[in-house]
Amino acid sequence: MRPNSQSMRTLADVAARARNVLAGGCDSPVRSGWSIAEPMFVQSSAAGAYAFDGEGRRYVDYVMGYGPLLFGHSHPALTTGLDDLARHGFVWGTTHAEEIRLGERIRTHLPSMERMRFVTTGSEAVMSAVRVARAFTERNVVLKFAGNYHGHFDLALLDAGASAQTTGARRGGIPEGVMRDVIVARYNDLDSVDALVRGRERELAAILVEPVCGNMGWVRPAPGFLEGLRERCDGYGALLIFDEVITWPRLGLRGAQARSGIVPDLTTIGKVMGGGAPIAAFGGREAVMNELAPIGSVFTGGTHAGNPFCVAMAHRVLDLLEEHPEYYARMSSLARQLAAGLRSILTERGSLYAVVQDESVVDFKFRPGPPNRDYDDARMADKKQYAAYYRAMLERGVLLPPSVNEVMFLSTAHTTADVEATLAAAAESLALRQ
Ligand SMILES: Cc1ncc(COP(=O)(O)O)c(C=O)c1O
Repeated sequence: MRPNSQSMRTLADVAARARNVLAGGCDSPVRSGWSIAEPMFVQSSAAGAYAFDGEGRRYVDYVMGYGPLLFGHSHPALTTGLDDLARHGFVWGTTHAEEIRLGERIRTHLPSMERMRFVTTGSEAVMSAVRVARAFTERNVVLKFAGNYHGHFDLALLDAGASAQTTGARRGGIPEGVMRDVIVARYNDLDSVDALVRGRERELAAILVEPVCGNMGWVRPAPGFLEGLRERCDGYGALLIFDEVITWPRLGLRGAQARSGIVPDLTTIGKVMGGGAPIAAFGGREAVMNELAPIGSVFTGGTHAGNPFCVAMAHRVLDLLEEHPEYYARMSSLARQLAAGLRSILTERGSLYAVVQDESVVDFKFRPGPPNRDYDDARMADKKQYAAYYRAMLERGVLLPPSVNEVMFLSTAHTTADVEATLAAAAESLALRQ
């Protein structure tokens, strides 16, 4: 694929316009390109596995909306018949039959969600789960892990991964009081949990964790890590919250919890759930969820929560996955092909970077050695090299996530030809660095 500098110049012009009206040129810092330097990619349209810029130039898209697009952009099963859906209305403000059915359907796949509540974003889901856990335990302290990302509410941002690493963006506007009740431990390190909780065991309301982390590169839990968290929660009388906003149902309809065999007290889901439409949920043990008003004293609510349009989209996502279990094997095989190709390019160049593949996720960072285990590892990645690689890939028609903390998401829309084009671009882009 030929590098295209005209597109790059146009992108620079449109990025300047964006900065003149949108704060920082974006709605979410990572999109501004702060991490990979100019130009910020400004998208005009999308179809299947592709993003298009303002000049109609096509890019193989591995951002996939940062995860939601398991079926690529505009899968016909998700985009057909939307007029009929719209005719039923976008928001009703009542509980409705399809919402009840959606809850029942989700629970067959995630039985730990004995009771659930729908919200609009992953941030809301995690914020609400934390509030319920605090009410149930009548405690305040929450332990989380550096490099995990749980959304943009106050406590979630402390030492978070993903785009929360924007320079100076970690603490601004977050009251000291919030920080007092948060403990940030090292992922995959039970000793750090023990050391940090010591003396505060009876204050701990919850341990909040991504059971497989997708926000400091792709980081799998080490053997015994999640089991250790479960045991500690039981010992402390705290709740275990699995944030499956990325992992469900990307890793399968039973999520990371089935894979690990660990049953959390509370679970949060979102992203893929709506196939691109904004819907998320939190749920868990009935006794815990009974803390919510009108049964209990905890308030959560939302004008758009459980709206019929997004609920219908979530049903369509489940229809697709239940009717096509082969999708997972297909995506995983393509992701393996991409990972194997990247590994051989890197090996040929003598670069000892680990390439990680898990179902439809592929990730590699410019850091020699084994895959990331925690955020200390993730921080060692060479950001400058990633930025150069990102730009070279963009010029060659491949859209990578514009941050070293993010991962490549594949979808049912990606093809072998896309992977081959990506590998050709990667071979050229990596060669440029020497
Ligand atoms: C694991 C995880 N939890 C929560 C969130 C927040 O979700 P949202 O961006 O929908 O608020 C994200 C977003 O990237 C996430 O990766």
